[in-house]
Amino acid sequence: MRSSTCLLLLLGMQLFILVPIEANDFSSFLSANASLAVVVDQEYMTMRGENIMAHVEKILSDIIRENLRNGGINVKYFTWNAVRLKKDFLAAITVTDCENTWKFYKNTQENSILLIAITDSDCPRLPLNRALMIPIVENGDEFPQVILDIKVQQILNWKTAVVFVDQTILDDNSVLVKSIVHESSTNHISPISLILYKINDSLRGQQKRATLRRALAQFAPNKHEEMRQQFLVVSAFHEDIIEIGETLNMFHVGNQWMFFVLDKDPRNFDPDAVTINLDEGANIAFALNETSPDCQYTLNCTINEVSLALVTSISRMTVEEEFIYGEISDEEWESIRFTKQEKQAEILDYMKEYLKANSKCSSCARWRIETAITWGKSQEHRKFRTDPTRDAKNRNFEFINIGYWSPMLGFVCQELAFPHIEHHFRNITMDIVTVHNPPWQILTKNSNGAIVKHSGIVMEIIKELSRALNFSYYLHEAAALKEDYFLSSSTSTNESDELIGSMTFRIPYRVVEMVQNNQFFIAAVAATVEDPDQKPFNYTIPISVQKYSFITRKPDEVSRIYLFTAPFTMETWLCLVGIILLTAPMLYAINRLTPLKEMQIAGLSTIKSCFWYIFGALLQQGGMYLPKADSGRLVVGFWWIVVIVLVTTYCGNLVAFLTFPKFQPGVDYLNQLERHKDISQYGLRNGTFFERYVQTTSREDFKHYLSQAKIYGNGQEEDIEAVKQGQRINIDWRINLQLIVQQHFERNKECHFALGKESFVDEQIALIVPAQSAYLHLVNRHINSMFRMGFIERWHQMNLPSANKCSGKGAQRQVTNHKVNMDDMQGCFLVLLLGFTVAFVSGCFELGYRRFRASRKRREFTN
Ligand SMILES: *[C@@H]1O[C@H](CO)[C@@H](O)[C@H](O)[C@H]1NC(C)=O
Ligand SMILES: *[C@@H]1O[C@H](CO)[C@@H](O)[C@H](O)[C@H]1NC(C)=O
Ligand SMILES: *[C@@H]1O[C@H](CO)[C@@H](O)[C@H](O)[C@H]1NC(C)=O
Ligand SMILES: *[C@@H]1O[C@H](CO)[C@@H](O)[C@H](O)[C@H]1NC(C)=O
Ligand SMILES: *[C@@H]1O[C@H](CO)[C@@H](O)[C@H](O)[C@H]1NC(C)=O
Ligand SMILES: *[C@@H]1O[C@H](CO)[C@@H](O)[C@H](O)[C@H]1NC(C)=O
Ligand SMILES: *[C@@H]1O[C@H](CO)[C@@H](O)[C@H](O)[C@H]1NC(C)=O
Ligand SMILES: *[C@@H]1O[C@H](CO)[C@@H](O)[C@H](O)[C@H]1NC(C)=O
Ligand SMILES: *[C@@H]1O[C@H](CO)[C@@H](O)[C@H](O)[C@H]1NC(C)=O
Repeated sequence: MRSSTCLLLLLGMQLFILVPIEANDFSSFLSANASLAVVVDQEYMTMRGENIMAHVEKILSDIIRENLRNGGINVKYFTWNAVRLKKDFLAAITVTDCENTWKFYKNTQENSILLIAITDSDCPRLPLNRALMIPIVENGDEFPQVILDIKVQQILNWKTAVVFVDQTILDDNSVLVKSIVHESSTNHISPISLILYKINDSLRGQQKRATLRRALAQFAPNKHEEMRQQFLVVSAFHEDIIEIGETLNMFHVGNQWMFFVLDKDPRNFDPDAVTINLDEGANIAFALNETSPDCQYTLNCTINEVSLALVTSISRMTVEEEFIYGEISDEEWESIRFTKQEKQAEILDYMKEYLKANSKCSSCARWRIETAITWGKSQEHRKFRTDPTRDAKNRNFEFINIGYWSPMLGFVCQELAFPHIEHHFRNITMDIVTVHNPPWQILTKNSNGAIVKHSGIVMEIIKELSRALNFSYYLHEAAALKEDYFLSSSTSTNESDELIGSMTFRIPYRVVEMVQNNQFFIAAVAATVEDPDQKPFNYTIPISVQKYSFITRKPDEVSRIYLFTAPFTMETWLCLVGIILLTAPMLYAINRLTPLKEMQIAGLSTIKSCFWYIFGALLQQGGMYLPKADSGRLVVGFWWIVVIVLVTTYCGNLVAFLTFPKFQPGVDYLNQLERHKDISQYGLRNGTFFERYVQTTSREDFKHYLSQAKIYGNGQEEDIEAVKQGQRINIDWRINLQLIVQQHFERNKECHFALGKESFVDEQIALIVPAQSAYLHLVNRHINSMFRMGFIERWHQMNLPSANKCSGKGAQRQVTNHKVNMDDMQGCFLVLLLGFTVAFVSGCFELGYRRFRASRKRREFTN
């Protein structure tokens, strides 16, 4: 009694200790036999009209006896599919219908039992990493199962699909539609939206083609819109469909086409011949029926094969365990040996490996998948250029076998069905042509003339494209000849004579020539978009818009000699004088009319003294006396209010006028040019789109300008000194002009130039792709997303001059720091001088007057 309690306690303790550290409680094959359950559903077997339980027992025991060299297997047989298996079963082989198979799978999951299920056709596959499912597929009825497997194994990651199916196939496979629309959450099959189109395959000849064309035309892309569609075709008419689809431009980089080829013999099928009219960029895959015609399917055979696979796998694992066990100590063995799940995963892998190599009976049905590798093939770096093998449009296509489908293993693929959709150009190296044209393309070369570094706005776009579209590239410089260079015009070799900034209007002739041969994926040049419909190449969407403006001398500041009068207008000054002249007599009168004599102030008893009083108060000299009468006080009080207002506004305004200097009117808009007679020379840079634009415009000022303009091509002709003197105006890209201003500011720390307020002529700048390039829409889509993510704006900011230093914020700072200088104060000093002079003159008068008075008095006195 006591000892048993003790034992229980110990056991309890052991459990307590063992559970938290997750011990590996599944014994290894060395210490215990593997246990296997075989469940053959009796009901299902009667329904099928077969009874194989007895055979199964015989088959299994034969196999175990003959093939199991190491370890042992205990097998238990059940005929009822609702049986609950205990935890210590390693695996189970079941033969039952689809529904019960799934039920059984869900029940055994918590006990972690490896399931090998033989079941009906058209059954969604059990999770591939947890079970092996073998649907019994009748010969010729495999489509529903194939479609289900496509969905379960996500061979085609499609959200929408257009399905073309022959009428007869649909009639033969009643569950085909059901499996196409099948969706499930346990298997993570998301629903797809579907357009199912039945092809009446009894039609022949013209009628057939007309029907197909009508059907396909509904999905044809219109010219400027990129559509991405997926097509699944199960039809005997695949050749017609490809041909008609091609004439409707339905094979482009966005579309995916999956064809099930129904030819009985796959050797008759030549993908190259079928796709002969297709252009590069097509995504097309074929599934070919490789079923061997003389293969007989039996349940016996399948069970035999599967059991053999299982037994050999277990045997193989046991050998491995024995080998490892012999090498290491017991403690180590305990810590490294497989858990049940790991063991099952390993067995599953071994079984699949075995079945791939050895399966004979249930792999009767077999569909091979071939997909076309087409993208970038003709532009691939020096790969096919030299020896085009065939003279067809698809001569560079390459069809690769990506894997196969069989009922036992489902799809076994080593590559994506449409590799280009996911991997785009698959890291091939493309040839790209370019020219040096900062800041768009900046090429840095080493002493051998090889390009070692590239940057600039266009190059950043190329780099991003290559990242997004998964290709590498090799740059070819087009400007081999100096004359082709549109930048360094003429033969001048004087560096300092070259114009700064860039132009994109004239694309070098060599670039155009090279692009036309369709050997280059893209021309990485910034080019002005002009008459896109008449060019032997295509433009991408614009990557930049540049505008023109003009540069003139910055207008001079207004003279500041009268600055001190600036706060008030002329009328205000006159009124001020007026009110002084009015207030003085007023004060005099009020003071005089005071009824009481003692209230009168002696100091205000004359008009003159009143005037001085008012004047003095205005200039804040203060008054020595105040009227005693209320009336007088009121007048003086209100005068003081007027004084306060006047002085405050004057002071405040004076500050403002000091801080913000005023300028003479400059040329803000081109049509103001008439008014500026001193500007006598008009300049226009050579090679501008502006020149071309003016020929079609209706703006008179442009036409007038162009007719007078001198086209300049180098620094000497540009004559920036004349602009500085105010005799000349130049038209160029705003960014180029900003560069000039910036350069002069950095050199002289002064701002002598002003750019026009007006920007005119939007010049669109784009990249160039060869005519008929399959990838134009693709490139456009990615450029678009670069815009949306703000990349292109950022590259513009990095490469183009920022808002120039002589305007905007830079100028603002300069204004707030404005120091009052002699220019500002001169008027002030002059007024003081005037005051002195007036005072001196009046002093002289006063002196003379006194002398005169004194001499008269003396004369009176002597008289
Ligand atoms: C293990 O299997 C062998 C042969 O398959 C058998 O002889 C042996 O009795 C089995 N052992 C147990 C414990 O079931
Ligand atoms: C595939 O080929 C086999 C043998 O040629 C044929 O029996 C079977 O019907 C074909 N399958 C389909 C779906 O046509
Ligand atoms: C298919 O075409 C044949 C021949 O033109 C016609 O007799 C038949 O009615 C059509 N079937 C359907 C379903 O339209
Ligand atoms: C299955 O195989 C057993 C012998 O292993 C044989 O007797 C039986 O007839 C076979 N059954 C079928 C349906 O072929
Ligand atoms: C680029 O293509 C290669 C070759 O197909 C592929 O292995 C790689 O995953 C792709 N990279 C990306 C980012 O798609
Ligand atoms: C892509 O190709 C380049 C050069 O051909 C190579 O250096 C790079 O490793 C490749 N990348 C991938 C993901 O294959
Ligand atoms: C380049 O221009 C500068 C200034 O205009 C001049 O002094 C120099 O001689 C010129 N050099 C040549 C090679 O023309
Ligand atoms: C490409 O250029 C050709 C001829 O210049 C023109 O007809 C075609 O519309 C252009 N393609 C696109 C997509 O703009
Ligand atoms: C403008 O440039 C072109 C080509 O570079 C040249 O032929 C032409 O003479 C230049 N015109 C002027 C006025 O410099």
